[in-house]
This record gives sequence, structure tokens and C-alpha cells, in this order.
Amino acid sequence: MPAVVATWPFGQTAVRAAMPLLRQGRPALDVALAGAQAIEDDPTVHSVGYGGVGNSIGTVSLDACVMDGRTLNCGGVAAVENIRHVAALAKRVMERTPHVLLVGEGARLFAVQQGFALDTLLTPESVAEWYKTRPKANPNPRDQGHDTVTVLVLDQKGSLGGVCTTSGLAHKLPGRVGDSPLIGSGLYVDDTAGAAGATGVGEEIIRINGSFFVVEQMRAGRTPQEACEAAVRRLNSLAVRRGVHPARVAFLALDVKGRVGAAATSRTNFQYAVSKGNKVELVQARELDAEGK
Ligand code: GLY
Repeated sequence: MPAVVATWPFGQTAVRAAMPLLRQGRPALDVALAGAQAIEDDPTVHSVGYGGVGNSIGTVSLDACVMDGRTLNCGGVAAVENIRHVAALAKRVMERTPHVLLVGEGARLFAVQQGFALDTLLTPESVAEWYKTRPKANPNPRDQGHDTVTVLVLDQKGSLGGVCTTSGLAHKLPGRVGDSPLIGSGLYVDDTAGAAGATGVGEEIIRINGSFFVVEQMRAGRTPQEACEAAVRRLNSLAVRRGVHPARVAFLALDVKGRVGAAATSRTNFQYAVSKGNKVELVQARELDAEGK
């Protein structure tokens, strides 16, 4: 059965924007992009697109990637300023260049060449939020906001597609890139195994190549739920070893049968939106502590 899932409570907006396209029979990646773009356009979401909270010098710097599960075509952009629809830009990288990832000024130049509008991404509310949350001293990146939107879709033809887009860690160092634009870390999609996305502290997700890890667990026969739990257990054991537990990360997965799974590290309070028909549901993900319980 066709399905759309998206991270966090604001994922409900993404799912609602995506569902009409899914019903029209559009390909999974187009459906996922429409959902992600609805969040990029929402100024009340301070961790994605327009209205995102700035980095340590107050500049909004965006990361995104896309992946098509049928072809394994993919694209990403990182540390992009002044472009609102970075997920669409990542799709353009996939479609119009021989590359997978463009960063910074190169990505912005490509965007302008492709006809994307230059935009101011700060809003009065996001500037106020930046001042309010500005670390006093010795900022710990794990304490700052990092609520990526990842949208995973199973389309009417049984193909999977995914999109991940974020303004990343608030108050991050200029030039910092998280997991979200990195294929395999923030997102991985393969029709022969499943689709997975991550949210939370990018530095920890990158360390285990989190989304690829989840997809490979599904390839090995685990359900999406078991695969996400396996990834959280791996991440937790590494976080304990490194003295950074709990790392605050969550994984979301969808397979070609339409089965959904999600799991999070403790104290993440991760919720995700899911729709397989007309109804949109908000679901609380299972949290696993350092003992894997
Ligand atoms: N997961 C988003 C980030 O760390 O940038």
C-alpha cells in the first residue's frame, strides 16, 4: 500500500502536502519533495529552510539530499546560503550534473544558474530565537536544536523515494556539514532493501553511516522497526564508549511492503507522521537506553 512518513510533529504538514501527489500516481521522489518543501516554506519551523535558526555568526546555512530507490540516483547540497528550496536544488544536482554533492558557494552558483531565486532566510522570529538560544560559552552541539525533516514515500508503482532537508545544528560553526546532505548518513533509499532517514545529532549519525546501516539491516531480513532499533543500539554503544550518551538521534524506515519502523535514543521524544490512506497519524517512536531496552 502506498505510504508517506515524515519526521517530527511538523511531519504532519509534510505528509498532508505529499498525499495529493501520491494519489495522482506521481513518483515517490516527487511526492517526498513536495512534502519536504512544505516544511522548507514554513517559517514556524526553526530547523528547516526559511525561518531556520542561524549558525554561530547568525547566517542560515542549509543541507539537503534526495534519493530515488528505483535507480539509486541521488544528489545533495551542503552549507548553502540564500536558497530556500535546497531539497529541489539537491534533486537538480542529481538530474543535471554528473555529481552527487555540491557545497557552499558552488552550490549557490549552481542554484542561480538553474533559476533558483536568492532569498533572505532569516525571519524576525528566527533572529529572536537565535539570540535566545545563543550559547554563553563552550557550546555543546548536542544541546542545540537539530530537527531535520526526512520524508520517505512508497509510491503506487511500489518504488521508494526520500528527501532530507535541514538548517542543521543551530549555532553550528560556519562551514559545518551534518548528516542530512550525506547519502548513507541522513538518507538512503534502495527498492531492493528499503528506505531510511535520520534526525538528531549529525556528528553521531555520520559516525555509523546511520541510514545506510538501517537499510542494510532490512536487506539482511530485519523489519523496518528491527532495523531502526539495531541502528540505535549501535549508536548508543558507540556513544557510551565515547562518553557522549545519550546522543539524541532517531531513525525512521519504510520498506516496499509499506511497513514502517522508527526508534530513538533516550530523551529524544521522537514522533513521526505517517499516512497510508486519508488519515494522518502522529506516532511516538520507541526509545532505547544504553542497555538496549
Ligand atoms: N541532523 C541534522 C544535523 O545534525 O545537522
